[in-house]
Amino acid sequence: DWNMPDYIGEAVEKIRAQVGTDEVILGLSGGVDSSVAAALIHRAIGDQLTCVFVDHGLLRKDEGKMVMDMFSKNLGVKVLRIDASDQFMGHLAGVNDPEQKRKIIGREFVEVFQEQAKRLTSARWLAQGTIYPDVIESAGKGKKGQTIKSHHNVGGLPETLNLKLLEPLRELFKDEVRKLGVALGLPHDMVYRHPFPGPGLGVRILGEVKREFADLLREADAIFIEELRNTPFESPRVPGIDAGKAPINWYEATSQAFAVFLPVKSVGVMGDGRTYEYVVALRAVQTLDFMTAQWAHLPHELLGKVSNRIINEVRGINRVVYDISGKPPATIEWE
Ligand code: XMP
Repeated sequence: DWNMPDYIGEAVEKIRAQVGTDEVILGLSGGVDSSVAAALIHRAIGDQLTCVFVDHGLLRKDEGKMVMDMFSKNLGVKVLRIDASDQFMGHLAGVNDPEQKRKIIGREFVEVFQEQAKRLTSARWLAQGTIYPDVIESAGKGKKGQTIKSHHNVGGLPETLNLKLLEPLRELFKDEVRKLGVALGLPHDMVYRHPFPGPGLGVRILGEVKREFADLLREADAIFIEELRNTPFESPRVPGIDAGKAPINWYEATSQAFAVFLPVKSVGVMGDGRTYEYVVALRAVQTLDFMTAQWAHLPHELLGKVSNRIINEVRGINRVVYDISGKPPATIEWE
């Protein structure tokens, strides 16, 4: 049980002692870990930190703007936002295989980040949001404490860039990282967001990734998340989920929830006309460790409202289905 102000004070001192007057770069993904790492390091060394935020075009609705507002506007952190969506879309064109898609996204991410990092010739340190469970996971895979999620945490970069590694969250568990984030002034909703995979919407658009599919999916997903947040959670508490604190809405009552784009067309009817449009699947699960998961028993009224809104508001979607598969045998993501 640690005292937050003391913890921050000590962490700040440690970072200052470690880097001195050197410059540091950090790859900001919009996720909790890299965000908290950025906020902590900025608290310690201010403008000696430069963040590189690679926008691969597979982020959720308004996510890029949110990241820029939070860091650049509110906290005054130096952030380079790189719009690399053309590059990512170009390399993903014609690729259907899930593993190949993941590899391409990971590779391009490293490439874009590396190019930016090389320009910051005065940087001596690469900061990463590695947390304790990442350290354990990687140790299990024999990787010397380096993280395995390359698309996420840009593993392997320190060698090619000749940078020293700065990992101020290495000893923290996820719940500690979240508390630290709030104490550093990051918004509660951001810090308590559901996990989002490094390859982003790339693994939620089945098969070939196209910009038009990503645009539809972003809208559908935003509607789903908005309704989950706006629907009060009135059922008895879900055992084991956030044990100390009862969820107040369905977003908090689920561990992960999102929309998936299915590149399949089905027939519908709207007004006097026949439609022939794409399908969106909704996925919501409850889990403690993400190794196994149950599909969430969302209220039918909530599902009905989300379905109506998506079909009415997102042109190009005329059918919404709900995924009622557990993990195992299904995984949480569809790819
Ligand atoms: P699955 O789909 O395997 O997902 O049941 C378990 C958890 O891991 C997340 N996930 C990923 N996270 N890069 C990530 O950073 C990935 O490639 C990736 N694939 C899955 C998923 O969102 C879920 O929380």
